[in-house]
Amino acid sequence: MDALTLQQVRREYIPVLPEIFRSLSELVFHAVHNPSTQPEIQKLFPLTSGFSVLKGGKNAHKRSPKPLKVGVVFSGGQAAGGHNVISGMYDALKSLNPHSQLLGFIDGPAGVVSGKYKELTDALIDPYRNQGGFDLIGSGRTKIETEEQFSASLQWVRSLKLDGLVIIGGDDSHTNAAYLAEYFLKNACPVKVLGVPKTIDGDLKNPYVATSFGFDTACKTYSEMIGNIARDVLSAKKYYHFIRLMGRSASHIALECALSTQPNFTCIGEEIAAKKKTWDQTVLAIADMICRRAELGKHYGIILVPEGLIEFIPEISSLIKELNGLLAASFPIPPQDIQAKLTPPSRACYSSLPEDIQKQLLLHRDPHGNVQVSFIETEKLLMQLVEKELFSRQSKGSYNGKFNAVHHFFGYEGRAGFPSNFDSNYCYALGYTAALLVDNGLTGYMCSIQNLSLHPSEWQVGAVPLTSLMNMEMRKGKERPVVQKALLDLNSKAFAHFSRHREEWAIDDTYLYPGPIQFFGPSALCDTVPHTLVLEK
Ligand code: FBP
Repeated sequence: MDALTLQQVRREYIPVLPEIFRSLSELVFHAVHNPSTQPEIQKLFPLTSGFSVLKGGKNAHKRSPKPLKVGVVFSGGQAAGGHNVISGMYDALKSLNPHSQLLGFIDGPAGVVSGKYKELTDALIDPYRNQGGFDLIGSGRTKIETEEQFSASLQWVRSLKLDGLVIIGGDDSHTNAAYLAEYFLKNACPVKVLGVPKTIDGDLKNPYVATSFGFDTACKTYSEMIGNIARDVLSAKKYYHFIRLMGRSASHIALECALSTQPNFTCIGEEIAAKKKTWDQTVLAIADMICRRAELGKHYGIILVPEGLIEFIPEISSLIKELNGLLAASFPIPPQDIQAKLTPPSRACYSSLPEDIQKQLLLHRDPHGNVQVSFIETEKLLMQLVEKELFSRQSKGSYNGKFNAVHHFFGYEGRAGFPSNFDSNYCYALGYTAALLVDNGLTGYMCSIQNLSLHPSEWQVGAVPLTSLMNMEMRKGKERPVVQKALLDLNSKAFAHFSRHREEWAIDDTYLYPGPIQFFGPSALCDTVPHTLVLEK
C-alpha cells in the first residue's frame, strides 16, 4: 500500500476566505483615505500618484464580469504560500468568468521581459495547492530597469492581450511594479499592474499591510529549530549557540523568533543603530550576560543574531555604504586595492575585520546593488569576538567560566516549506484580492488584507497605492525612488514586550519549545498568527 504523504494531504486543505469574497461579482473597492505622496515621487510618477487607499465592499448591483486574461510572476526570494496566491487568483478569475485565463511568467521578471510563460490550468495548479516553494513557475531577481526591458515587457503584455499583471514580490519588486504601472499608462497600455506583498523578511509592512506572506512560516520553522536547540542546551549544559537568522536588514524575524522561544540574548539591529552602539559594545553586552550566567554555574545559552545586524553597526554601516558606492562604479575591485579607496575611518574598520568577513563584504551584491547579507557570517564573527573578550577577562581574573560555542545559520530552510495555515489562508485571500483588483480596473496598487489577527472570515480586503509607499534612497550609488523597507519599530508593542522580558530570559532558562508547524488538530495550535501581530492588535 502506498504511504500517504503530507504533500498529498495538504493539497486537500481548503483555505478559509474572508466573508467579503462570498459574492465576487458584487465586490467593489471604495476610496477610504487619500495618502500623501512625496513631491519627488509625484514628479516621477505623475500618472499613478494621488490614488486613494481602497477597501473592498459590496455594490448593490451585480456585475457580469467579462473573461479576464491575467499574467502572474514571482519576483525575488521564495516565501511559503506563493502557490496559494496563484491558486487564489486562478479560482477567483474562473469563478468571475470560467473563460478567464491565468498565465504564469517563467523564472521571475526575466520571463516578462522575454515573454516566457505557461498557461496555468487545473492540472498544473492542483498539485501545488498549499505546497511550499515557487517551483510551479520559478522565480528570479531580474530588475526591470532599462528602456529596452520596459518596452519588451510592454510588447509582451500587449501581444498577449493581458488585462493585468500581478507581481508577487518584496520591496524592490514593488518598486518594479510601480515603474511598470506608470510606464504602461504613459504608453496608453490598459494592462493593470498590481503587487502582492511577499517576503519572509517581514519588512514590507505599512499601515495597511501588517505583514508580508511567508514571514509566519519562516519564523515558525526557525522557532522550531531554536526550540530544539534550547532543549539540547538545557540537556547537555555545555554550549553557547550563536544562531544567525535570515531576514536581510530588518530584525523582524529575530524579534518574532525571540517572542516564540525566549532565548538568552537577541541582538536587534535597529536598537543598536538607534543607541549608536559600536561593535565592541555589542560584544561586551553578550560577554557580560555570559559572565552573569557563569556566576550561577550556567555555561550554556542561546544568542540570536539577525543576518542584517552588521549593517546597523554604525562603523560597519558607513563602510558598507562606501563599498556599495565603489562597487557600483566598478565590480569587482581586487581586494588588495580596496583599502586605498576607502576613507580613513572605513579603512580602519575594514582592516579590523577578519579576512573571511572582508571577502564576504566584497564578493556578493544582489541585482539591486545591496550587500548580500546572507553570505556574511556575522554570528561566527560575534562568537569569535566574544570568545576573545572572555579570554581577556579570564586572564585578568574577572571571569572563570567555560565557554564552548557553536554557530548556525537558519536561512533557506525557512523559505519554501509547507505554508502554515495562516500563510495558506493569507496567500489564497491575497490571490483573490489581486484578481478582483484587476476585475475592478485598478492599477498601481499593492493588495492589502487587514485584521489579520482575527479569524480569516473577518479579514478586510483592500489596496494601497504603490506611489504612497515610495521614497528616494541611494541605490547603486544614485538617489532612486523605491518602495520603503519597514525596519523594526522600537516604539511598537511587540518590541516593548520583548524589552520588558529580556532580562529575565537572559538569566533564567525560560526557553519555549514551539515544535513543528501544526496543520491538523485544535485551532489554537494550527491557526496561530505571528506573536508580533497579536501584540500589535
Ligand atoms: P526577498 O526580499 O526577495 O523576499 O528575499 C528575502 C531573502 O530570503 C533574504 O532574507 C535573504 O537575505 C535573501 O533573500 C537571500 O537571497 P538569495 O535568495 O538571492 O540568496
